[in-house]
Amino acid sequence: MSDDSLPPVLENPPLTYTSYLMVNELIDLQRPLSEPAHHDELLFIQIHQVYELWFKQLLHEVDAAIECLKADNVLPVHKILKRVTTIQDVLSAQLAVLETMTPQDFSVFRERLNPASGFQSYQFRELEYVSGSKDRRYLPFHKKNPPALARLEARLEAPTLWDEFCALLHRRGFDVAATTPEADSEESERLMEALAIIYNDNEKHYDLYLVCESMVDYDERFQLWRFGHVKMVERTIGILRGTGGSSGAGYLRTTLSKRFFPELWDVRARLGGIHAH
Ligand code: HEM
Repeated sequence: MSDDSLPPVLENPPLTYTSYLMVNELIDLQRPLSEPAHHDELLFIQIHQVYELWFKQLLHEVDAAIECLKADNVLPVHKILKRVTTIQDVLSAQLAVLETMTPQDFSVFRERLNPASGFQSYQFRELEYVSGSKDRRYLPFHKKNPPALARLEARLEAPTLWDEFCALLHRRGFDVAATTPEADSEESERLMEALAIIYNDNEKHYDLYLVCESMVDYDERFQLWRFGHVKMVERTIGILRGTGGSSGAGYLRTTLSKRFFPELWDVRARLGGIHAH
């Protein structure tokens, strides 16, 4: 690099990379607990922090998608969910980084983490809630963190991505209720018929069809992350209980069947059966 290709050194720049991004503060946020600090604990802390930043971004994006649905602004939802699923691919790929940590290395500082666990990630739980998996049993684990509890309670009250999609279908003239129907009700059957129409005549309902498929992509990637995480857990701690107090991999396997949009999976069985005009 020749000297004249370097930028000039400014005496008093109004803004710098470091000040704008608060890099000094950011790289001071990793505080290993092991003494002497185990080499791998920095990776363990950083990877969780990176996940939390991405969870923040995902919430920001899913909230934006909900606002678009409310405003009948359908195509941008597809664009937003494309970003969401791209981030999810990064999240799943990142698991491999932590898998370079051996069980022996983890065991050196794992005891220090008790009783902390990713199980207590309130942003992860918020993502589940805003996406439609509203299991209240997770609330008590946050009672010592009032701001987190307040966020989760607000998410439980607020409409989900699916709720807003159903409301949109109602406004678009499909014969469905404006609110998400109870499972196995007459209204849920009408919703399934509407979805089958969207899929079978996807050129006519192209924007809705694209959003449906983006939601399936999102749901599928969430499930793939859960699977990747449980495999990582199995290879790192085997059958040990979790630091959060659950049965460990056994508990995590019970979460693998969670689906945010079961209707979008179930409708596939009836595609081809209903033809719109
Ligand atoms: C060596 C690495 C890891 C191990 C051994 C591990 C282990 C576990 C275990 C055993 C649980 C069940 C709850 C408990 O009793 O603790 C759990 C839950 C969880 N972990 Fe991890 N984990 C690891 C890395 C990560 C990373 C990097 C993340 C990213 C944020 C993460 C996020 C979560 C989340 C969100 C849950 C709750 C899942 C649910 O309830 O559906 N974990 N983890």
